[in-house]
Parts: sequence; structure tokens; C-alpha cells
Amino acid sequence: MSDTENPMSVYTAIRSRRDVRAEFTGQIVEDDVLHRILDAAHHAPSVGNTQPWDFVIVRSPETLAEFGKHVADERVAFAESLPADRRETFDPIRIEGIETSGTGIVVTYDPERGGQHVLGRATVDETGIFSAVLAVQNLWLAAISERIGVGWVSFYQEQFLSELLGIPAPVRPIAWLCVGPVSEFQTVPDLERFGWRPRRPLSQAIHREKFGG
Ligand SMILES: Cc1cc2nc3c(=O)[nH]c(=O)nc-3n(C[C@H](O)[C@H](O)[C@H](O)COP(=O)(O)O)c2cc1C
Repeated sequence: MSDTENPMSVYTAIRSRRDVRAEFTGQIVEDDVLHRILDAAHHAPSVGNTQPWDFVIVRSPETLAEFGKHVADERVAFAESLPADRRETFDPIRIEGIETSGTGIVVTYDPERGGQHVLGRATVDETGIFSAVLAVQNLWLAAISERIGVGWVSFYQEQFLSELLGIPAPVRPIAWLCVGPVSEFQTVPDLERFGWRPRRPLSQAIHREKFGG
């Protein structure tokens, strides 16, 4: 699909993007669509132009099931850490669509990409990770413009995921993204719909001249 056939504005994409958990149809995202989405991710800005990301496409049902089981265990551990009232709110909230999406994209970050002298990272080391996260955001927005759902899963132990996919240190997995066709996009984020946490008003996030001003 070309841009002219698919004219979603960037503002519409930003407003309609959702973290998708329950709405995956079970169909698999087509390879050419996936390629366009990954190409968008690959065009993200990056510190020193290091492009420190890689993308591992996971479709093996066994691997999806194994990761899903690990995430389910971590979900239980989180639930058990909550006070009773928060636990009651959390209980009905889904936190992943690992198997139902049928495709996991694991985004990794390589701190050694670009060598020792990365232009722009000498003072703020996290700019490397920031760059990889920008690739995730590009992917997410490209996906919504293709009407493809994305759900970010972070309920995992990093070492478990590295071993599962053979990711060699010091490369780190920074996101497991469930990617696939959806029946609908919710208009209100799940965490707001289920009463976990609403969006802050923009006016609270804007400060003038000094923080707090
Ligand atoms: C770094 C990061 C990690 C996240 N991890 C999870 C997760 O493990 N499970 C989940 O259901 N949602 C996860 N989310 C999605 C957020 O809950 C979601 O973005 C937020 O509630 C706002 O909803 P929206 O994306 O639909 O606007 C994650 C989002 C980010 C940015």
C-alpha cells in the first residue's frame, strides 16, 4: 500500500495508536506489511547515527508458548506484590497477546554499535537506549497506519528472554512487541478503561522556564 492509498495523518496515527492485548484476530501479519513496518522502525533517529537496534521476528508456536508461560508467571508475581484494592483492579486486565498475535518482534539494543566514540553519547549513556526506543515508536505508528495492532510486553526477566532467543551479551532485548491484525482498536487505553490509571492533562506536563513553573 502506498502513502497515497493509505493517507492516515501522523496526528491521527498518534491519537488512534493503542497498546493491543485482547483484540488480535489470530491472523498473521503479512510479510510485506511487516517489512514496511520494520523499515519505518529502521528509519528512526539514533545517537551518533549508530542505529543500535536489531529486530528478531518470532513465529515458532513453541517459542511463543514458552515466552507466554514465563510472562504469565511474572504477571502472577506482580499481582501478588499488590495491595488488595490494586490487585482487584489489576486482575481483569490483560497484559499481553503473545500467542494470539502469532508474531513477536523483539527489539534489541547493542551498546557497542558505533564503537567507543559515539557522537552524542559521551555524556548521556542512555541516549543509546533512547534511540532503540524511538525505533519502537516508529514501528508502533507505522503499524497503526497499516491498521495492524502492536502490544508491548515487558513482564519478563531479561536473562530469560536473552537465553530463549540466543541474544549475546552485551546486546539487550528491550521490548517484546506482539504484532498482528486486530478486530478493532479500543478508543480508550485499557489501563484507563479498567480504572488502573488515566492520562494526565497536558497542562500538568507543561512547565514554563523552570521545572514546576
Ligand atoms: C516501556 C513500555 C512497557 C510496557 N509494557 C507493557 C506490558 O508488559 N503489558 C501491557 O499490557 N502493556 C504494556 N505497555 C503498554 C502501556 O500499558 C500502554 O502504553 C499505556 O497503558 C497507554 O495505553 P495506550 O498505549 O493504549 O495508549 C508498555 C508500554 C511501554 C511504553
